[in-house]
Amino acid sequence: MVASAGQLNSLGSTALLTLTIAQLGAAAAVGSLQRYGAELAETTLVRRKVNTTDIPAPISIAPSQYWDGIDGPWSSFALQVGTPAQNVRVFASTAAPITWTIGADGCPPGYVADCANSRGFLFLPNQSLTWVPNSRFNFALEDNLGMDTNGNAGFDTEVLGWQGSGGPTVAHATVFNVASAQYWLGAFGLNPLPTNFTTFTNPQPSFMQQLLNNNTIPSLSYAYTAGNQYRLNKVFGSLTLGGYDLNRFGSNNITVDMYSDVSRDLLVYVQGINSGTANLLPSGTISMYIDSTIATIWLPEDACKAFETAFGLVYNEDYGLYLMNSSQRTTLQATNPSVTFTLGANQTGGSTVAIELPYKAFDLTVQYPMISNPNTSYYFPLNRAANDTQYTLGRTFLQEAYLIVDYERQHFKVAPCTWNQAAIQSPLIQRIKSTNSTKNGDDNGNSGNGGISAGTIAGVVVAIVAAIAILAALLWFFRRRKRTQKQRASELEAKEQSGAAKESSDNENKPFISNPMGGELGGGEIHELTAPHKPFAQEMESPHKVDPNKAGYSEMGDGEYFGPGKGFAHEMQGNDQPVYEMAGSDVHEMPTHERRLGEDK
Ligand SMILES: *[C@@H]1O[C@H](CO)[C@@H](O)[C@H](O)[C@H]1NC(C)=O
Ligand SMILES: *[C@@H]1O[C@H](CO)[C@@H](O)[C@H](O)[C@H]1NC(C)=O
Ligand SMILES: *[C@@H]1O[C@H](CO)[C@@H](O)[C@H](O)[C@H]1NC(C)=O
Ligand SMILES: *[C@@H]1O[C@H](CO)[C@@H](O)[C@H](O)[C@H]1NC(C)=O
Ligand SMILES: *[C@@H]1O[C@H](CO)[C@@H](O)[C@H](O)[C@H]1NC(C)=O
Ligand SMILES: *[C@@H]1O[C@H](CO)[C@@H](O)[C@H](O)[C@H]1NC(C)=O
Ligand SMILES: *[C@@H]1O[C@H](CO)[C@@H](O)[C@H](O)[C@H]1NC(C)=O
Ligand SMILES: *[C@@H]1O[C@H](CO)[C@@H](O)[C@H](O)[C@H]1NC(C)=O
Ligand SMILES: *[C@@H]1O[C@H](CO)[C@@H](O)[C@H](O)[C@H]1NC(C)=O
Ligand SMILES: *[C@@H]1O[C@H](CO)[C@@H](O)[C@H](O)[C@H]1NC(C)=O
Repeated sequence: MVASAGQLNSLGSTALLTLTIAQLGAAAAVGSLQRYGAELAETTLVRRKVNTTDIPAPISIAPSQYWDGIDGPWSSFALQVGTPAQNVRVFASTAAPITWTIGADGCPPGYVADCANSRGFLFLPNQSLTWVPNSRFNFALEDNLGMDTNGNAGFDTEVLGWQGSGGPTVAHATVFNVASAQYWLGAFGLNPLPTNFTTFTNPQPSFMQQLLNNNTIPSLSYAYTAGNQYRLNKVFGSLTLGGYDLNRFGSNNITVDMYSDVSRDLLVYVQGINSGTANLLPSGTISMYIDSTIATIWLPEDACKAFETAFGLVYNEDYGLYLMNSSQRTTLQATNPSVTFTLGANQTGGSTVAIELPYKAFDLTVQYPMISNPNTSYYFPLNRAANDTQYTLGRTFLQEAYLIVDYERQHFKVAPCTWNQAAIQSPLIQRIKSTNSTKNGDDNGNSGNGGISAGTIAGVVVAIVAAIAILAALLWFFRRRKRTQKQRASELEAKEQSGAAKESSDNENKPFISNPMGGELGGGEIHELTAPHKPFAQEMESPHKVDPNKAGYSEMGDGEYFGPGKGFAHEMQGNDQPVYEMAGSDVHEMPTHERRLGEDK
């Protein structure tokens, strides 16, 4: 059983308190007190000592510097999978807790000649020495948009960034190898929920959770913006793990509590969509899910109709897309309308933030196999949603919005991006600290999580108050026993008191980087720690008791797969959704080279 935050905090304050006593003891130079103090100091100093190098810095993930996708162009990121490392280019998915890559069957005959390159390169598990095959499973991702697919799941080493860049490493990351063209590139998931496989008793921890456990990132948080080609001299996407880049957004922002359905956690109220005088959201506020996994924006039909009227769009029923010919495009380029999304944390009123997308944000192209004959076309990245579960703000929106997601405090921020060439070229990375108290590689083998919690602050205060009380007691003691030395003793104590107080506040402050948002992301909402907190892998027990003989890596699943984190939605909401279960047995029967590899062993 893991110690609760409360226990840890009280431990922290005890340590502080005893150290203070130790210093007082030394200062007083009274034999027994000194010895007692030294002993205490020895046993507590190890835990007490704050080594700032133990608190990891946030990591800014360099973009791949490529523009990818068949519905973009979009800025991608480099990912190394397997041993020896296979380099692939992928997108960042704010919805997924897993990674997916494109397998060898992702490039059938008829696809573009440089299909493998176009898809960000393939991952061949049979070329990796560290690949651990699992079975074939559904993603259970984007099924509300009808975009769920399946793949050969397994585990392998993952490193973010190009080879040699020293990016963050996870030794046993969950990887799906897929073929479906609806995800033209792979992606790595930023959602920290664990994944349940029926082939394993325990939920498999996510990439982000493993980075935190390995003390690679300071907290379960990230910041992302998609980048775009139309601003400045093309601006690549920006991704920061455990922090954010202060140079990418201005002071205008909203903070939104995460939605209780963990599969739609980044849900925000859109209070209005306007272009000039045109109201593009005629039926009022809707709640929309922010999701970098998909390219487009999904709006209710009446809103799509308003867009059609405002911009002369024509819906293509065959592809379900707003395809555009070059004359339509030229017209829009000339009028250059912009669309402003007004986002709020509340359905009406409250603080809001306006995200303005220039027409160029919508000026994208779609290619084969999403459409065919012609095999490429301009399109307007808008989709008609069948119901409110489909309302989504995709990557198109994230070209102009900066998203900061803090899973530990269960909230996220949305801010308009700022476009300043010099600022973008020199990121100002800020740390988001963990809500967990400082514990530097303690004896439980836990890695230290940076930051200071309300409990620790309380601990410091208690310790200082206690120290003053002890000082007073000592003062009284010395006055009685050593009247002759009265003057000197009280002088010493006074010095030590200020010394001790100063040292502890110095040390406790080290984990912080002082910045405009740090306090706001951190301190301000600490009382929300008790808010619904998602259970993490290590805290959970699986109700799915799997026959140990069946739990082998190459074992076929029994078909009951619960998607990433979906189990919690079910658990927390009580709305059991059978869609998350495997669609059919056909998936099990698909022979794959990975599985054969496993069986051959
Ligand atoms: C802090 O930890 C790092 C590595 O864990 C070590 O190299 C360094 O010497 C430590 N610093 C202090 C002051 O203990
Ligand atoms: C579109 O792509 C398909 C498959 O690659 C090809 O057969 C077809 O000729 C292409 N059509 C055009 C107009 O290029
Ligand atoms: C690995 O898989 C690829 C794609 O299925 C196949 O072409 C290749 O022959 C395999 N290599 C080995 C050594 O099995
Ligand atoms: C932890 O991080 C180190 C350094 O990035 C890496 O070498 C190691 O494989 C990671 N361990 C796990 C279990 O992911
Ligand atoms: C976010 O907005 C709040 C007011 O809503 C403001 O106080 C704060 O400074 C903003 N954060 C940043 C980083 O600008
Ligand atoms: C472009 O599309 C619009 C709307 O569908 C149509 O009215 C127009 O005739 C098309 N122009 C060309 C050159 O195809
Ligand atoms: C917005 O919602 C929050 C709680 O979600 C509430 O505390 C606040 O009063 C609301 N503000 C307005 C203006 O309705
Ligand atoms: C929403 O629409 C999609 C697509 O038609 C459908 O699959 C899904 O079941 C619907 N969801 C609800 C809650 O009605
Ligand atoms: C905080 O620490 C507790 C106890 O060690 C642990 O159970 C919990 O998962 C941690 N929370 C995060 C966000 O790491
Ligand atoms: C996934 O696993 C966790 C922990 O074992 C469990 O609490 C949750 O109910 C599981 N999800 C489903 C859908 O069974």
